[in-house]
Amino acid sequence: MNKRSVRDLDVRDKRVLVRVDFNVPIKDGKVTDDTRIKRALPTIRYLLSEGAHPVLISHLGRPKGERDPKYAMDPVAEHLEGLLGAPVLKLDAAVGPEVEDELENWNGEGVVLLENSRFYTGETKNDPELARHLANLADVYVNDAFGAAHRAHATTVGIAECLPAAAGLLLVEEIDYLDSVLKTPERPFVAILGGAKVSDKLGVIESLLGVADSLLIGGAMCFTFFKAKGLEVGNSLVEDDYLEEAKRLMDEAGDKLLLPADVVISEKMEAGAESRVVEVDGIPEGWMGLDVGPATVESFRERISAAKTIFWNGPMGVFEIDAFAKGTEGVARAVAESGATSVVGGGDSVAAVTKLGLEDEMSFISTGGGASLEYVEGKELPGVAALPDKQ
Ligand code: 3PG
Repeated sequence: MNKRSVRDLDVRDKRVLVRVDFNVPIKDGKVTDDTRIKRALPTIRYLLSEGAHPVLISHLGRPKGERDPKYAMDPVAEHLEGLLGAPVLKLDAAVGPEVEDELENWNGEGVVLLENSRFYTGETKNDPELARHLANLADVYVNDAFGAAHRAHATTVGIAECLPAAAGLLLVEEIDYLDSVLKTPERPFVAILGGAKVSDKLGVIESLLGVADSLLIGGAMCFTFFKAKGLEVGNSLVEDDYLEEAKRLMDEAGDKLLLPADVVISEKMEAGAESRVVEVDGIPEGWMGLDVGPATVESFRERISAAKTIFWNGPMGVFEIDAFAKGTEGVARAVAESGATSVVGGGDSVAAVTKLGLEDEMSFISTGGGASLEYVEGKELPGVAALPDKQ
């Protein structure tokens, strides 16, 4: 990555504002998946070892620009303290005179965690005034929030113009890994896409068709392709506005694009509902496809096991419900057993990999869903673009 890294800065005795992505799931006041917190630890530990004083800031959820106790950072602070083994001073605001006073009186031990950046309307508007208030809190800014790098917000973009800025170790690692897969993949390069909507993934499909040798498509978005082919898809999710586009992509892709051969169908998307496996041209009226079937897993496995490089984003079905999780599990196991360089991104596919205990079998698990897709699509990530180039 051609951006200045935290290692290029002199941070000794400096207060360093670090934008992290601690947007993690929380249930009953406890963090239920701490992957993103763990992945931010190398930068935090590096700063501590260099004698810096890290002040961390993140968003959590999507509060509407005002304080909402449901999205307060306290559970994250508690969890981080356990992982870091150093004190975490959690403040109840992110900017303002009280925060400035508290930082002045801070004993400098461990780290400070500021309150949720999205409690301020200026955050998502990239308000320069909020960025300036944040800049008052520190000497240096480090962006380590790869998961939020596709957002042009005050804590990811505006602030980078107000302070000496650099990329954190996770941000560098994520970009370097994606670059190695996209720019110099060992072939065959197999891309696997799932998820509900074609409309969200058009750009990514287009871009992957240009670089990958095979593109395997599962998840509900395959039904838009099937309808575009003239098949009956019952009550399956279809985006009628994208039928033409789906047809064009299929024509352009030819054999490169592999769609499911069979699907698991049900009349209801709920646990315990009756389900069966049918070929894709056999979906009866009133039924909907909720997962890919076993023949599809086999045909996907064939291409996956021959791959030398794999990029996977998005589940193959409604994997939260056991009856519709087998397609995603089958793909996860095939990727794990392939021996290929594998990059997995996106909350649901990563959750499936984690649920199956296959994290260590993947070469790289990206902490960004939307961010990794936008990067693969060839879009510039505003949070990266805002950082100065390496000198
Ligand atoms: C994510 O979870 O993908 C990132 O934290 C970004 O969150 P957002 O989609 O709410 O901006």
